[in-house]
Amino acid sequence: MPVVTFTSPTLHRDVRAYATAGDTHTLLSVAEKNGVKLPHDCRDGECGSCLIKVDYVEGKPKMGMALTEKEKDRLKEMGRITQAQIEDAEVRDIPPPYRLACQFVVRDEEIIVTFSGQPGEG
Ligand code: FES
Repeated sequence: MPVVTFTSPTLHRDVRAYATAGDTHTLLSVAEKNGVKLPHDCRDGECGSCLIKVDYVEGKPKMGMALTEKEKDRLKEMGRITQAQIEDAEVRDIPPPYRLACQFVVRDEEIIVTFSGQPGEG
């Protein structure tokens, strides 16, 4: 079962969310379902306001490597991902540190999502 822990200075305490394995919800929708106010605007990988930092819990499988083309382009424009990190993700299953919550489809993994509460600042 996917387990997502949201952490942010905007939250009184960390929010731990259990998503349904096998569904295709984005991290943004998981946040909303759990009352976490993650900054967002377009919901379509264009504006970059849903930038988040993602850490993977040690010893758990890492499965967040499927970046959409939009997400790659936007993160590159924001200076939050390098071509080398994209190759690491796609070829070596090494996840990049920054993602867009509206493009990140939650799978069966355990992750920690950090955000500042300021749109586009991660
Ligand atoms: S909400 Fe605009 S890129 Fe995610």
